[in-house]
Parts: sequence; C-alpha cells; structure tokens
Amino acid sequence: MIWFDDRFVPESESKVSYLDRGYCFGDGVYEVFRVYAGQVYEGAAHYERLVRSAREIKLRLPYPLEEIERIVLELIERERLRDGSVYLQITRGVAPRAHSFPPADTQPVLLVYASPAKRRVESMRGGIAAITRPDERWLRCDIKSLNLLGSVLAKQEAEEAGADDVILHRDGIVTECSASNVMIVKDGVLLTHPANRLILHGVTRAVVLRLARELGIPAEERPFSLETLRRADEAFLTSTIMEVMPIVAIDGARVGDGAPGPVTRRLQQAYEATIPASALSGGGGQ
Ligand code: PDD
Repeated sequence: MIWFDDRFVPESESKVSYLDRGYCFGDGVYEVFRVYAGQVYEGAAHYERLVRSAREIKLRLPYPLEEIERIVLELIERERLRDGSVYLQITRGVAPRAHSFPPADTQPVLLVYASPAKRRVESMRGGIAAITRPDERWLRCDIKSLNLLGSVLAKQEAEEAGADDVILHRDGIVTECSASNVMIVKDGVLLTHPANRLILHGVTRAVVLRLARELGIPAEERPFSLETLRRADEAFLTSTIMEVMPIVAIDGARVGDGAPGPVTRRLQQAYEATIPASALSGGGGQ
C-alpha cells in the first residue's frame, strides 16, 4: 500500500496526472525518514524541516501536520515495516501548465510510501570512495525541493567514475554531497559547512554535531576549501540512509591512511547508541 492523493491505495492503482506540478516542474518538497524497529527516527526534526521547506516555497500542506504524521504511522503499520525508510512528497497539485502558482483552491498532492532497507554495515566498516565536482545546483539548497537534477547529474558522474559518491564545491568551497552532508577532521577538529542556503540542513548532521559536543570533540561549522578537504585526516558523510559513512578515498587519493579514522569511529558508535539495538545488525527489512 501507499498513500497517494487522499487515500491508501495499492501501488498499482496510483496514477500520476500528466498535469501534476511535481511531474511538470518539480514543484514540491519531500522528506526521507528512517525507520528503525518500527519507529520513526528523529521524526520531529524531519517534520520541522518539511514544514519549513513547504513554507519557503509557499506551498500549503494538504492536511494539518498531525494528520500527515498519522498517515505515516499508519503506513508503517500497514506495511509492517521494521527497518527501512519512508518517502514523503507534496506537490503543488494538478492544474493547467503555467509557471506561476495554480488557482488557490488547487489541492496539493501527498505521496507517502515505505521501503524496507538494511543498514549498509559493510560500507560503514570499510568506507567509501568519493570524487569532487563543482556544485551546479541552485542557491536554495536548504529547501528539500523535488528539483534534484543537479544532484542527479553529479551522482551519475560519480557512478561513471567508479566512485560511490560525489563531494560538491562552489568555487573551491566544499558544500555537501549529492544526497548527504560532508564533514572532515583535521588535527582533531571536526569541520562542516555552515547550515545556510547552500546546503540542506541535514537531520543526521545535527545529530552528529550534538554527539560531537557530548563527546568533547571540537566542532566548527565554517566553510573549508577543497585543499583542506584533500589534507583532511578523516572524512565522512552523514544522511538519514547512510548514517555516519566514512570516506576513505577522494579523487583516487587516500584520506589519512585510507581507513576510517578514530573520530569517525567514535561518532559512528555514538550514533549507533541512538538507534534501537534490534536494528543494529543490519536490520531485518520487513
Ligand atoms: N537526502 N544533503 C542533501 C542534498 C540531501 O539530499 C540529504 C538527504 C542530506 C542529509 O540530510 P538528512 O541527514 O536529513 O537525511 C544532505 C535524502 C536522504 C535523499 O534525498 O534521499
């Protein structure tokens, strides 16, 4: 089952209108929630960001937030989802194609579906390889907009280069990855781009910064350059799906000694301590 356009329907019965503004313009916002042991992880932070993203693009929520939260919980229950993710998007609805907003009574369209997924335990242990590319996205990356072409093209380049992900930079300043935030460690200090309009304010990013504070790891939210990235002792990315994922190679060169570093490991362990124990082994899927 999925939630689509006002009701729970079997996947096969969901039909997107060719005039849906999400389909034509990418006019909408989305969220990806992690579900561990049947529970939404950091739900409040995701809902807060959803409300903010919608407000920033002047999109009305189709229902009160409490109703949306209820739909998500019911979907998790109906799907008997234990470990996985929930994808939620809201588009500005169906209306004759015109760039300006549709008539005020156009009903926004909510889609919610659940997918079982295992934690990427192997990669978290061994680390992944990344390439660097110019950040060619728009200037409101703080909005979780459905327009993802900049990320799609960058991630595809990574794949074609045989890398797992791509670290983006604007004029030599490192911003984030295609679907995650990036952090480095240099001389014991954790560095990550400030949460301004040039990056998504990641929920995982905020959790990791909080954990760093609790562990007494000095952390600074300030811009850093590609050269600093290349000299980093450790690097990792953070996201709802990837959690704390070590980056052990950048553009073919090893990061530090080419293995996940001690600060990354400590943060991984601290992050795991915030997850229900039954989800840790990789998650049982459905
Ligand atoms: N991506 N930066 C970007 C550009 C993202 O798309 C994401 C999330 C993040 C990390 O945010 P969080 O920690 O809240 O997941 C950072 C989701 C998972 C996606 O698009 O699939």
